[in-house]
Amino acid sequence: MAKSRVQFICQNCGTAHARWAGKCDGCGEWNTLVEEGTSSGIGSGPQSLRKARAGRAVALTTLSGDIEDAPRIVTGIGELDRATGGGFVRGSALLVGGDPGIGKSTLLTQAAAALAARGHRIIYVSGEEAVAQIRLRAQRLGVAETPVELAAETNVEDILATIGDGKRPDLVILDSIQTLWTDLAESAPGTVTQVRAAAQAMIRYAKSTGAAIVLVGHVTKEGQIAGPRVVEHMVDGVLYFEGEGGHHYRILRTVKNRFGPTDEIGVFEMGDRGLREVPNPSELFLGERSAAAPGAAVFAGMEGTRPVLVEIQALVAPSPLGTPRRAVVGWDSPRLSMVLAVLEAHCGVRFATHDVYLNVAGGYRISEPAADLAVAAALVSSLTGLALPADCVYFGEISLSGAVRPVAHAGSRLKEAEKLGFGQAVMPPGNEEPAGGISAQAWRPESLADLVARIAG
Ligand code: TYD
Ligand code: MG
Repeated sequence: MAKSRVQFICQNCGTAHARWAGKCDGCGEWNTLVEEGTSSGIGSGPQSLRKARAGRAVALTTLSGDIEDAPRIVTGIGELDRATGGGFVRGSALLVGGDPGIGKSTLLTQAAAALAARGHRIIYVSGEEAVAQIRLRAQRLGVAETPVELAAETNVEDILATIGDGKRPDLVILDSIQTLWTDLAESAPGTVTQVRAAAQAMIRYAKSTGAAIVLVGHVTKEGQIAGPRVVEHMVDGVLYFEGEGGHHYRILRTVKNRFGPTDEIGVFEMGDRGLREVPNPSELFLGERSAAAPGAAVFAGMEGTRPVLVEIQALVAPSPLGTPRRAVVGWDSPRLSMVLAVLEAHCGVRFATHDVYLNVAGGYRISEPAADLAVAAALVSSLTGLALPADCVYFGEISLSGAVRPVAHAGSRLKEAEKLGFGQAVMPPGNEEPAGGISAQAWRPESLADLVARIAG
C-alpha cells in the first residue's frame, strides 16, 4: 500500500508542490495551493494492485472501411450543434465551462429536452440543485413535459449505479464536476484530486458504454474550487460559455474538439424563457448602430468558418495626464499599442498627448489581427473628427512597417458585408479576388499611410 503523503496542489492548474507557497510555480496564480492527501490518487491504492490483463493491438489498416464519421447525437439546436461540430459524439466526454450564472444549466436543460423529445434517453445529474429546482427551471423553459430523467447525486459510484439501471443512456449530463466525489480519493469535493478522479471515472464510463457525457465546470478566479482546466486534457472537447455583464447574448466557444473544428462559435440570447438561438450574429452586434459618427468603423471579422461583423469604437481625446491613458475593451491591449506605434512612426499621426479608448460594440471579443485596419480607421476617424462612410467595412492586418497584409477568408467577409447591405470595403491588396458585387467597390491600400491620407482627406 502506498504511504499516505501530504501535497499542496494548485487548484487552478493541478501542479503539485511539496511545500505550501503563496504562488503556484506552474501557472503563476496566487493563493491557489490547497493541502490534499495523495494516498489514493489515480494510479495508487487498491487499483494499482490489480493483476495486469493483456490487451489487443490492431493494425490501423484493418480499421479503414468499417469506420465512418464519429456517430453523433444531434440536438436540433443549430447553434449548439455548430459548436460541437455536428452534435454530441457517442462515447466521448465534453466539458462545458463558464462563469457561475452565465447559463450553463439552462443551455444543457434545453439540450436535454430537445434530445429527449427526439427519443433519446437523457439523464441529467445535478449536484447543485434539487430535482424540484431543476423541474422549476424546466417549467420556465417550457420543457417540463419532456422525458428527461433527473437525479440529484454527487457520489460517482452512486451515479454510476443510478444510470446503470434500465436502458443504456445516450447522454449523461453532470452538473457540475466541482460537486462530484469518488470513494477512491480522500480529498474534499471540489479539489483537484477529486475533480480529476471523478472526471476520470465518468470518462471511463463513456468510453466503455458508448454514452456521451457532458461535464459542466465553473470557472473561478479564486483558487477555492478547482478550475475546469485540470480536466481539459482528459476530455475530447471543451466548450466555453461566455457573456459580458449587462448584455443578453452568450457565446458558446469551441476551444478543443477531437472530432471537429475548433474556433467555432454558437450565439444565443438569454431571455425570460431561456436561451434563444441567434443565427445571424452580425445583425445582433450591429443592431444598436446609429448613423455614422466619428470614431466608429465596422470590422468584417471571422469566427472559425463564420463571418461576424462588429463595430469598433474609438475615442481619442486630449489628455490632462502626463502619461495618457490607453484603455481597451474587447481587443488586445498590446495590439492597440502596436497599431498606435505604427500610426505614429509611419503615418505621422500623433497620439502622445491624447487618451485613447477602444471598445468593441456589444461586449463582443475579437482575437483576430485582421481587425488592425478597422482599429486604425476608427482611431484616425476619432482623432480627426471625420466620420467614416457608414456603408463601408474594414479588414486587414498591419505589419510593423505599416504595410497592409492579406488575411484569410476575404470572400466570406465580403459576402457577409454585402448581405447586410454594406456597399464598400477597405481590404488588403493581394487577397484573392472574389467576383462581382461589393468587391468591385473594394479599395485595397498598400499601406496604412494611404488609408490615413484618404480619411484625413
Ligand atoms: P444558469 O443556467 O443557472 O447558470 P449556470 O448554470 O451557468 O450557473 O442560469 C442562471 C441565470 O440565467 C440566472 O441569473 C437567471 C438567468 N435565466 C434567465 O434569464 N432566463 C431563464 O429562462 C433562465 C432559466 C435563467
Ligand atoms: Mg448551474
